[in-house]
Amino acid sequence: MYRRLVVAKELLAEDGVFFVSIDDAEYAPLKLLLDRIFGEKNFLANLVWQTDGNFDNQARFKICHEYVLVYAVNETQVPSPPVIDPNAEESGKLFRDEIRNTIVKNGPKNPVSELTLPAGFPADFEEGIIPERQDKWPHFLGTAEIKNKKLISPVIIKSGWANKKLCERFIAGNFQPVFDTKNQLTTFILTQNGALENIKLRKTDQSHVVSVIKNVGSVQSAGAELLALQINFTYPKPVGLLEYLLSMIHGNDFLVVDFFAGSGTTAHAVMKLNQEDGGNRHFILVSSTEAVEEKISPNPPFAKGGTINESSFSKGGTEEEADDANNPSLGKRGIGNQETRDNVDEFAAFLPPLQKGGRGGFPDKNLCRDVCAERVRRVLQGYVNKKGEAVEGLGGDFAYFRAMRIPKGRVYEEIQDAQIWLALQLIHLETFQPFAADKPVQTAEFDHGLIAYCTKVNADTLMELEKLAADHAEVIVYAWQAALLRQHLPAANFIVEAIPAFLMNRFGDSHAT
Ligand SMILES: C[S@@+](CC[C@H](N)C(=O)[O-])C[C@H]1O[C@@H](n2cnc3c(N)ncnc32)[C@H](O)[C@@H]1O
Repeated sequence: MYRRLVVAKELLAEDGVFFVSIDDAEYAPLKLLLDRIFGEKNFLANLVWQTDGNFDNQARFKICHEYVLVYAVNETQVPSPPVIDPNAEESGKLFRDEIRNTIVKNGPKNPVSELTLPAGFPADFEEGIIPERQDKWPHFLGTAEIKNKKLISPVIIKSGWANKKLCERFIAGNFQPVFDTKNQLTTFILTQNGALENIKLRKTDQSHVVSVIKNVGSVQSAGAELLALQINFTYPKPVGLLEYLLSMIHGNDFLVVDFFAGSGTTAHAVMKLNQEDGGNRHFILVSSTEAVEEKISPNPPFAKGGTINESSFSKGGTEEEADDANNPSLGKRGIGNQETRDNVDEFAAFLPPLQKGGRGGFPDKNLCRDVCAERVRRVLQGYVNKKGEAVEGLGGDFAYFRAMRIPKGRVYEEIQDAQIWLALQLIHLETFQPFAADKPVQTAEFDHGLIAYCTKVNADTLMELEKLAADHAEVIVYAWQAALLRQHLPAANFIVEAIPAFLMNRFGDSHAT
């Protein structure tokens, strides 16, 4: 987990935030691990999610919470969350521009003392009298008379006080607002029933997130929500929780990565938020097939290996299912056309055969493909629920990719053109074109022109490239034989690049992790 978290931090933006949900059992070691990776100073919060679930069957202590640890890459870059706790009542303090509180506070730490309110002290009512009294706090040692919202002659009042010193500064400063210890502007006011209150102006960057999160749904309600989508998954997170966490991030145009995606709740929440505020948030989800080592039948090469990672990637572009050749909705644009699927099948040849219990011993089990991607597809495109009603999609697109392991030492021999082409597009674009084996050159449009991948340099590819150069302002051509290609492509609008070493290193490194 340590290395995975280090990579996660590397992937985050400078102002990025990391959320991790964890229960009591694993909280303590995870907190220490995260302190080490992110630094204690970048710890933002330990949110407690009140899980609301059914806990009748638990012995001794009934646990109804989990945690969400929140870290920043750099806490100075993360402003207060621009969201208000969903449980805050609209009439409550959080929604007012000013916060009022009585400063009358009696107790051992606040012994009773006198405070003299001079003439001119402000009141929140036009005119009236607060009679002398000893039966209610604060005591009034004389009658207070108010005209034009001001005390017309001094009065001594007596009580224990929460904020007496600040009030005295307010009086000394001729009733001008004063800053409290938290730098909040504060004024004081007398009310008609004789209370003395302070008024603090709400700071615009003030946080409205309360550390205990309630009423955002439960695992049970989330499960039921998924069943309505005709998807079955144990322990999904409620969409409401993810929506709330994501709305703690400023702006509505950012990328969210969930590398333990499970049923894809994160994608669901991202698209829901986009629909609500017209945002342009993107997601990358990664999940395993859930074929875990202990359950694997002894069938190499996965007997010692573990899981296959797969991912869904939304960058506002294509939507495809790379695994399922029979899916009739495929192949319009993007990575899921026939060639790509053939390619996937070619990759699949490296895997142990399904029927022999390869891929983790669960021939039919592929959580990523059948649960996560399927849920995302239904949520985005619409679906027919259990009751037979049509539910409209939230809109948006996604692409589905499958990762495979290539032994580090064999990357250059085993890497496929389709994989290279995909990775090259990722450098420049937010949408993807499938690898088309019948084309001499792979191409994809981008803002200023065209990205091309030239698998070999020969007469056909040169002719094709020259045609492309004539039609586009700029053509970036990636090739293995970049130097050779440069000699043959004199046109000024060509930029010839070798396949980047970092890209190949990445492919190689992926085996090591
Ligand atoms: C607790 S679930 C996440 C649930 C998710 N938040 C939801 O609402 O559905 C964790 C998921 O991570 C997946 N997982 C486990 N090991 C993984 C790995 N090495 N790489 C990627 N995903 C993994 C599991 O298959 C499981 O579905």
